[in-house]
Amino acid sequence: MKVGVVGVGYVGLSTAVCMATKHRTVAVDLNEARVASLNAGKVPIHEKGLQSLLDKGLAAKRILFSPSTEGIEDADVVFIAVGTPSSSDGSIDLSQVRGACAAIGGVIKRGKADPLVLMKSTAVPGTARGVVKPLLEQTSGRQCGTGFGLCSNPEFLREGTAIKDTLDPDRIVLGPLDGLSLRLAGKFFKGFYGKRSPPFLVTTPEGAELVKYGSNALLATKVSFINLIAGLCERFPRTDVDDVARGMGMDHRIGPHFLQAGPGFGGSCFPKDVRAFARSIRDAGLDPSVLERVLALNEAQPHHVVQVAEKASNSLRGKEVAVLGLAFKADTDDIRESRSIPLIQRLLEVGGNVRVYDPVAMPAAKAALASRVVYCSSARECIKGADVAIVMTAWRQFKSLKPGDYLELMRSPVLVDARRIYDPRTYAKKLKYVAVGLGMEGTSA
Ligand code: UGA
Repeated sequence: MKVGVVGVGYVGLSTAVCMATKHRTVAVDLNEARVASLNAGKVPIHEKGLQSLLDKGLAAKRILFSPSTEGIEDADVVFIAVGTPSSSDGSIDLSQVRGACAAIGGVIKRGKADPLVLMKSTAVPGTARGVVKPLLEQTSGRQCGTGFGLCSNPEFLREGTAIKDTLDPDRIVLGPLDGLSLRLAGKFFKGFYGKRSPPFLVTTPEGAELVKYGSNALLATKVSFINLIAGLCERFPRTDVDDVARGMGMDHRIGPHFLQAGPGFGGSCFPKDVRAFARSIRDAGLDPSVLERVLALNEAQPHHVVQVAEKASNSLRGKEVAVLGLAFKADTDDIRESRSIPLIQRLLEVGGNVRVYDPVAMPAAKAALASRVVYCSSARECIKGADVAIVMTAWRQFKSLKPGDYLELMRSPVLVDARRIYDPRTYAKKLKYVAVGLGMEGTSA
């Protein structure tokens, strides 16, 4: 089989290298520099397992990156995996999807194949039926169901575990636009996963699109919800949100996942997807206020972390503040919507001198923060001489810093654990340790 992938962002690239473990794969992207560097074996993002799969695919000549759709003319299956960013009003910007549809329509028109098109890009309910299908039909001159197949096929991979999630997903969701596509897609995925095939859910295209938005919105809601509870925990001595989350998660109806309190959710998906979902709920005449509150709580959370730091150190004015972690979560170099950025902005506003370190996100951070902060080359260098250290990303190497390291290196150690990576019983005994969701001795509601 031959697979085409249009769009070589996070999802497209992960999908392409995984597909190339079994199929000849051509991945298309308008960004010629990215295409050239991928063909030269250079991975543009920090993602576990990606480099080795790319190397294997290139060595076996099973994967090729191309700036034009010519390479996918004889593809049996074509994934649409382009970005769907937020417009300035929070609604979804489908311009890349439209561009991809026009390009794929052109391929279908040239007639070497009648591929199955799988719509992976996250898009609001109604997009596959109302935008993708008519555009493919217009630009190809063919009918969906006879000239090509089309299925909504949302993606659930996470950054940091993108390869594992693609090779071993929890589920495959299919929303076919025509009967033929369902059979083709079922056969394609069963063939790819073989004995390790995940469960399939088949629904309408809109149902599939809603599974994706519903999942991201509910997970984001869990995060804001536990952060709200974290704020309350901070009002009661020795009350710990981790205990509360553990207790809540023991109820199998709630589950233990996504109840880790912290500085809020970031990344390229949750914030933009919740915004777009809220917008489409409003456009449908329904009330999206629950999601708007989820977003508002998330916006406030980095400021709350600064307040925790201010309270612990009286004032941050003129203080040296070390920010450990700039990526939106560990195991990625992605700083899109990272909570560290608004946190740093706020620290500067309240008069702190900010120095930063991240194991892999420094280049991206330099582009975003320019000369407003001091860049350090290690965690130890970052905390050296600092008055306050704030842990914003749960990187393993930050976990290995012991109370003695902070005591020895910092000027007047105040440690703010915004990710709850340390055991308060050990750290609070040895230095001034405060944390999101942890009520300190002497606090009162
Ligand atoms: C998320 C979803 O988890 C994926 O299933 C989905 O495919 C992806 O969005 C997408 O739509 O493309 P991702 O953005 O990679 O994946 O990151 P997550 O691991 O979900 O984390 C999102 C944010 O929530 C991070 O900032 C993380 O630190 C935060 N988070 C997560 C918490 O603060 N607490 C938690 O308990 C969990």
